[in-house]
Amino acid sequence: MLDIAFAKPALPKTGALVLLIGEGEKPSGVWQQADEVTGGAIDRALKAAEFNGGKGKTCTILAPGAGLSRVVAIGLGKPADLAMRVLNEAGGHAAGAVLREPAGCVATGALQPAQVAEVALGATLRAYRFDRYRTKEKAEDKPKLTKLTLLTADPARAKSAWEPLHGVAKGVFLSRDLVSEPPNVLNPAEMADRCKKLSELGLKVEILGPREMSRLGFGALLGVAQGSANEPRMVVMQWNGASGNGRKAKGKPVAFIGKGVTFDTGGISIKPAGGMEDMKWDMAGAGTVVGLMAALAGRKARVDAVGLVGLVENMPSGTAQRPGDVVKSYSGQTIEVINTDAEGRLVLADVLWYCQQKFDPRFMVDLATLTGAMIVALGHEYAGMFSNDDALAQRLSSAGQAIDEKVWRFPLDDAYDRLIRSEIADMKNIGGRPAGSISAAQFIQRFVNKKPWAHLDIAGVAWSSKDAPCVPKGATAFGVRLLDRLVAEHYEG
Ligand code: BES
Ligand code: MN
Ligand code: ZN
Repeated sequence: MLDIAFAKPALPKTGALVLLIGEGEKPSGVWQQADEVTGGAIDRALKAAEFNGGKGKTCTILAPGAGLSRVVAIGLGKPADLAMRVLNEAGGHAAGAVLREPAGCVATGALQPAQVAEVALGATLRAYRFDRYRTKEKAEDKPKLTKLTLLTADPARAKSAWEPLHGVAKGVFLSRDLVSEPPNVLNPAEMADRCKKLSELGLKVEILGPREMSRLGFGALLGVAQGSANEPRMVVMQWNGASGNGRKAKGKPVAFIGKGVTFDTGGISIKPAGGMEDMKWDMAGAGTVVGLMAALAGRKARVDAVGLVGLVENMPSGTAQRPGDVVKSYSGQTIEVINTDAEGRLVLADVLWYCQQKFDPRFMVDLATLTGAMIVALGHEYAGMFSNDDALAQRLSSAGQAIDEKVWRFPLDDAYDRLIRSEIADMKNIGGRPAGSISAAQFIQRFVNKKPWAHLDIAGVAWSSKDAPCVPKGATAFGVRLLDRLVAEHYEG
């Protein structure tokens, strides 16, 4: 992870300098000094580029003199709308612009310490890279940025504002690492082992294997797992940040549940070969939950939270479940499995029910790369949201807008629930092509027992094919910051 430092404003003698500039702002401080030592080169270049500090505008000046390798101006827009995401994105643009330099300085002008820390977060998130398996890349082809120094009038306060955000960044990185791992490495047992490591952060981590789950009666989850040589796991992570250390009596925890299909071939209802490798990230919902729990612990959130992930591999084989099989879920409800590729909902059904039985949570949010239909509806910009609770849905929407992990609410309705009626069991696991994402959500809702609940279908946003300011292409960790923010805004203290 990028090494972040804070220091008083001083013109660097070498290397890269980033200037954060508000719309219409006049040169002062480090900006003015840089302009002076380069004989006005900065000013001339910004004028020639018609750079005015507009939001998201950038201008790069190479080798302007005075030992500086490059100066990058980044527009912040008008001071009045300096939202958190504008600061994150400015940090992201800053890191993106100096990735090829070994180190850089960012002059943050008159930003407050908390705002400087948000810039640091954006820069850190942008500098992520998964290169574990690249053994032959030449040094000159790799990004070199290892250290970024933010220049600010109050480095001490900026540093303390950064500490919790650093914890969140580590959670995002953990989530991206898990989602990026290839499926031969990250099978359910391996992912459970990595969850176990979270105990180093003070989380309580329990792992259930196939025997425990079979004793409990997890027929839906185990039906998905039965075709694979890799055993399933369920991991239960608890963070007692409110009640821990005897601070106060234990209340109901908030709960997060993730779909963790470490590889989804479709099973006997097998998927086409083209693009099937994408299904290594069918555990992104679980990856988000794990990253979120790490983030909450990493920033010592004053909340009691539980995170549960159902980990399976969906494979075709002689022991695989068949279309037509009827399984009995942990809730007691029976399910006719029409299509073995609609497996995520079967996994979530048992984990959600267990969560309610065990923890009686205040609310539940589940995340899943559940339906291809979600990508048809919303593309790669918003996640789909389904909820039985207007207040929770509203809170998720606004948290998403604030940190740019946006969600769009879809309807739930008895009319859609009818689509999953079965002739032989309590329900079937698919509802047909029309409204495919909604009938999937209706299925999950049948395992919600009068609890506030929201389901986020992240099929379109878990993986990205292009760089965004704070998210390099690849695993996005969508949901870690969203749910961290939801907790911070409404469920702490
Ligand atoms: N994991 C897939 C959904 C998916 C597809 C996520 C593409 C990300 C990208 C899920 O298990 C699945 O296969 N869903 C089926 C459901 C259908 C059989 C009702 C789908 O969307 O085709
Ligand atoms: Mn599937
Ligand atoms: Zn799947």
